[in-house]
Amino acid sequence: MTPGRFITLEGGEGVGKSTNVDFVCDWLSARGIDVLRTREPGGTPRAEAIRALLLDPTPQEPLDETAELLLMFAARAQHLAAKIRPALARGVWVVCDRFTDATFAYQGGGRGLDETRIATLEALVQDDLQPDLTLLLDMPVEAAQHRVERRGTTRDRFESERQNFFTAVRESYLSRAAQAPARFAVIDADRELDAVQASIADNLAERSALWS
Ligand SMILES: Nc1ncnc2c1ncn2[C@@H]1O[C@H](COP(=O)(O)OP(=O)(O)OP(=O)(O)O)[C@@H](O)[C@H]1O
Ligand SMILES: [Mg+2]
Repeated sequence: MTPGRFITLEGGEGVGKSTNVDFVCDWLSARGIDVLRTREPGGTPRAEAIRALLLDPTPQEPLDETAELLLMFAARAQHLAAKIRPALARGVWVVCDRFTDATFAYQGGGRGLDETRIATLEALVQDDLQPDLTLLLDMPVEAAQHRVERRGTTRDRFESERQNFFTAVRESYLSRAAQAPARFAVIDADRELDAVQASIADNLAERSALWS
């Protein structure tokens, strides 16, 4: 049995990850590929309970930054064990809305936590599992914020952060992409949805041809 491929979508708030996870799943399904759509933090009932802790914006007890980092990886360990690894082993392709690059971008770039510590936890939780392809949706922070405002849902603990936090997140994502160009595809997300999805389709076609 050929293992499935692991595709992640990354980028700051409002760049269109969730919208385009659906597009990626539909594109793969239309080509006869068995797909599992999931997200982080969360993806299983226990990991979603950890997600609720992570996103809860109530200010009475601020969440310690190291606790935040460990909860992210606790949720990820559960998600990998209960859902992602079994699916890949069955030959199912997994499409995930955020993964470990988000931890480097938010807890590393945004919060300033030491990236070597994040890398230690990554090795502990993932061994050598890495996404086969990471679609990084990139656009200016302000334009993405406008999309979030138009979407009109209440802000979670991360969405309540300030502009300079999101600028650091964006820069951190771009520098990770530059360090691993074989894994990343950087997509200009500041365009009409049709144009964004045409780029995503081109990348999927190009990369998946290399895998078969
Ligand atoms: N290319 C686009 N042009 C205009 N609007 C878009 C585009 N892509 C997505 N949107 C809209 O922008 C909003 C944010 O998109 P979406 O929820 O997919 O982003 P996200 O990256 O998942 O955000 P979050 O980080 O908050 O989960 C949605 O209302 C979506 O319909
Ligand atoms: Mg989303």
